[in-house]
Amino acid sequence: MKKCLAFFLVIVMAALFAGCGTSENQESSVADSSEAQSVTEAPETMEAVPEETEPSSSEISVVSQEETSEETFGTEEGTGSNILVAYFSWADNAVLAEDVDAVASPSVIPPGNVQQLAGWVQEKTGGDLFSIRVTDPYPSDWDDCLSRANQERGEDARPALAENVAGLEQYDIVFLGYPNWWYGVPMALLTFLEENDLSGKQVYLFCSHGTGGLANSVGRITEAASGADISDNIFDCFEEDTASSEEEIRGWVSELGFSADSAGDESVESEEPDMEVSDMEQRQISVQFGGYTVIYELNDGTAAASLYEQLPITVEVEDYSTNEKIFYPDQALDTSGAPLAAAGAGTLAYYEPWGDVVFFYGDYSENPSLFELGQVVSGGEHISEMSGTITIEAAE
Ligand SMILES: Cc1cc2nc3c(=O)[nH]c(=O)nc-3n(C[C@H](O)[C@H](O)[C@H](O)COP(=O)(O)O)c2cc1C
Repeated sequence: MKKCLAFFLVIVMAALFAGCGTSENQESSVADSSEAQSVTEAPETMEAVPEETEPSSSEISVVSQEETSEETFGTEEGTGSNILVAYFSWADNAVLAEDVDAVASPSVIPPGNVQQLAGWVQEKTGGDLFSIRVTDPYPSDWDDCLSRANQERGEDARPALAENVAGLEQYDIVFLGYPNWWYGVPMALLTFLEENDLSGKQVYLFCSHGTGGLANSVGRITEAASGADISDNIFDCFEEDTASSEEEIRGWVSELGFSADSAGDESVESEEPDMEVSDMEQRQISVQFGGYTVIYELNDGTAAASLYEQLPITVEVEDYSTNEKIFYPDQALDTSGAPLAAAGAGTLAYYEPWGDVVFFYGDYSENPSLFELGQVVSGGEHISEMSGTITIEAAE
């Protein structure tokens, strides 16, 4: 007899779950079906969810950030080097066929939702990014992927991984991202947790999902990583809102105390003095061009330290807009723990998305991606005349 698993579109539920935010552990009260189920009728869009055990809107509630921000992490120490951002995303685990007709048959389209979230978490924490990938990629076709994932779930499979995390012991904090697959997690996430022991580590979960929310995913992870300290402050995001959720997830990371723009937040500062940062105090740099010298005093942020390490620099400076002179350092600056730029003319800053260092000689708008490196202490009246080749050195 034909086994039939009905799928349906739940647009109204999509509205209820729409948006991104943090949730306390909202596990579905509906038991996960352990039976293998075959897919005989494919959903038409990503909103389609398995009907039988999908929790109802009353069974999952999304808690606002305000409600969860009580959680404090004052004892945490996140320095970037001890943070791992591991994630699973379909787009990183699919054979991307060139001739896929994504209209006739929904297909994977990179970048993946969780992949995007992970990128933003990595940028804000300065942690190491690790994509969990299987050796045998999933089909790029939606129906076929659903079918294989469902089969793996029914068999309680552990798909083989292409690689595991090197030097896992160096990480104290793990951000773990995943999509909801069949009201749980991709089985490869369980392989990952069983092969990469997170015991004793602080784990923060982030998830992108359809109308099913987190469903049973947190339970599956907790079971597989029983020795880990898994925070209840979970970021979850409806699939269609993921691409526009950068601000929300950066805010979540800030709330946890790991955001690059939370300098001064005691939770991200090491109790042991960081030699590189403390050495930066009172450090000045000179910028020489056309017979002029402009002196800046660097702040004690990590981004300023990253710039200082690259000195001396000889580079062509460029005009940008009516208030900036910019150049691109060879190496990107580490912005974890760096303060945001908030002052006016005379600010030395770093715009992370483009990777350029900025000498401001006019007012500017604050921006969550614009980090302050220091302030001018002399020669500021010449910044607007900066042109051609400049030399930047440590000033005595
Ligand atoms: C095989 C498969 C099963 C899925 N099962 C569910 C589900 O049970 N509930 C749900 O809300 N979303 C489900 N989804 C939707 C994904 O959770 C959602 O599209 C997510 O944003 C995908 O993230 P990614 O692009 O990083 O893989 C499923 C998607 C796939 C591919």
